[in-house]
Amino acid sequence: MKPKIVIGNWKMNKNFDEAEDLISEIEEKLADYNFETEIVLCPPLVYAELVTDHANEEGSQFYAGVQNVSEYENGAYTGEVSAEMLAGMDVSFCIVGHSERRKYFGETNEIVLKKMLRLLANDIVPVMCCGESLDERKSGKHFEIVQKQLEESVYKLTPEQMERVIIAYEPIWAIGTGETATPAQAQEMLAFIRSLIEKKFGTEMAVNTYILYGGSCNAKNALELFSQQDVDGGLIGGASLKADDFFKIIEAGETVIKEN
Ligand code: PGA
Repeated sequence: MKPKIVIGNWKMNKNFDEAEDLISEIEEKLADYNFETEIVLCPPLVYAELVTDHANEEGSQFYAGVQNVSEYENGAYTGEVSAEMLAGMDVSFCIVGHSERRKYFGETNEIVLKKMLRLLANDIVPVMCCGESLDERKSGKHFEIVQKQLEESVYKLTPEQMERVIIAYEPIWAIGTGETATPAQAQEMLAFIRSLIEKKFGTEMAVNTYILYGGSCNAKNALELFSQQDVDGGLIGGASLKADDFFKIIEAGETVIKEN
């Protein structure tokens, strides 16, 4: 079993002082350990430099990530931030295709693909989110929806590009709702996603690709979710805003690795 990856998605939360405090608290908690679990903090973009400064410190145990990037390379796109700019700030990971961006900002699969290509060209790891709505699940269309999201994004990558992508399955009905997918539901979908990767890119790629679960993953349920065979870690929203909870989720990742 490969080490887990735990990614904190702060969304649009924390003022500057609170962001500094949260990073320091996480650092203090990690200081006594040398975890195998890879940890990524994705604060709001405006704090990217804050988090990269900390991530670049000697002995730091986390990587710097952000939650969005422009689909364009550079030029007259007021308010946008390019992948090249992020790379220049030492950002290592970037979330793309989060359901909140799909819903509120019209991020289509086509845009998701463009963003991934920009990130990959700048050596930033895309964390590509997919997942179905409650209606889609209730009508039994969840596999079809996720398959389409993958076919229109990661399926268009070359194997060399795909090697550097992380996939996060986040059922929309579980995001921020407190209603987590059951471990069996998470496992079922992640195994399906892995089978799609296998079909397109082969067995080795399928085995090596990191596929995370996200959606009300917390300190209490992380161990059970991470114990599922195909769950390579978590994309954590609400619970990543409290150092204690986030640390317990990282510990859950460690526990699973040590037991296997
Ligand atoms: P949540 O969010 O953990 O608060 O449900 C997860 C996410 O949207 O990435």
